[in-house]
Amino acid sequence: MEKDVIILAIESSCDETCAAVIKNGREVLSNVIYSQIDIHKAYGGVVPEIASRNHILKIDEVVQKAVRDADIDLNDIDAVAVTYGAGLVGALLVGVSYAKALSYALNKPLIKVNHIYGHISANYVAHKELSPPYICLVVSGGHTLIVEVKDYITHNLIGTTVDDAVGEAFDKVARVIGLNYPGGPNVDRLSKKGKNIIPLKIKFNESDGYNVSYSGLKTAVINYVHNLEQKGEQVNKEDLCLSFTKSALDILIKKSILACKEKGLNKLSIAGGVAANDYLRENLSAACVKENITLYLPPKNLCTDNAVMIGVRGYYNYINNVDIADNKLNATPNLSF
Ligand code: KG4
Ligand code: ZN
Repeated sequence: MEKDVIILAIESSCDETCAAVIKNGREVLSNVIYSQIDIHKAYGGVVPEIASRNHILKIDEVVQKAVRDADIDLNDIDAVAVTYGAGLVGALLVGVSYAKALSYALNKPLIKVNHIYGHISANYVAHKELSPPYICLVVSGGHTLIVEVKDYITHNLIGTTVDDAVGEAFDKVARVIGLNYPGGPNVDRLSKKGKNIIPLKIKFNESDGYNVSYSGLKTAVINYVHNLEQKGEQVNKEDLCLSFTKSALDILIKKSILACKEKGLNKLSIAGGVAANDYLRENLSAACVKENITLYLPPKNLCTDNAVMIGVRGYYNYINNVDIADNKLNATPNLSF
């Protein structure tokens, strides 16, 4: 019998301090998330300096809890995996520095993980049968990507946003209508009560292959709200949230299905914070049934940032001997996909 591979993973790219222990890339032994949402709410968004400071205060406690919850000894781990980009530089540095020190002290390999590759990998713990090749729609606060997952470590980018990320658009729309940070889940909640579709004046460039654009939609929402405000009329927030959500997500549903068909792949997964959106989950599920595509939805707690996904990707890096780092590892805030 082959020896188990145990990865201790750390994630601190934005406003969540996370650690997890993963066995053989598919089994979660522990998953600890300390969220700073309540701290940043007062400012309407993440304040980078405050995020870094709170990571420093919490990281040791979070890692120790992950080890305790997994019921392992630190010496049982095979490697330390850490997110090194993309994200906020100060926030990333806390996780990277901690992981470097830990790997040095334990004399275990250090594995660097691209945050977005991590998001894609979250599905492997929920769906033990999922294996590449397949198409993944990545929808987060910083990225909107349609990706062909060729194997566990190789991806081919098919489409992306030409401007804002879809999660960013959700957050901006939320702010314009006075909803709390993080806006996405609040827009999601209100959209469920929406009844009428407001014709927002936008034009998606349908000919633009698999790419999408959100700046036009965002401006259309802002103009619509300002127009009503100038006339002294009330905005129906529920209808507006539904209309925005539909415009933002229908295009991604359509293009993801198209990507599956063109690549001859009948498996599709979604990843990233916006993958928790119920409109997306329900409508993509219906579209996939219609097109005979098997859809893999991550559990909602693994859509937003966590260290489980970093441990899973870290495992595949480790067994394939890629992205093995050393003590020169630095945070790479603008790491590309
Ligand atoms: O993946 P994530 O946690 O962080 C990044 O890597 O960016 O994604 C955060 C984004 C935020 O923009 C947040 O508003 C959005 O995901 N989000 C949602 C929902 N839950 C989180 N957007 C729409 N509906 C949701 N239910
Ligand atoms: Zn993320």
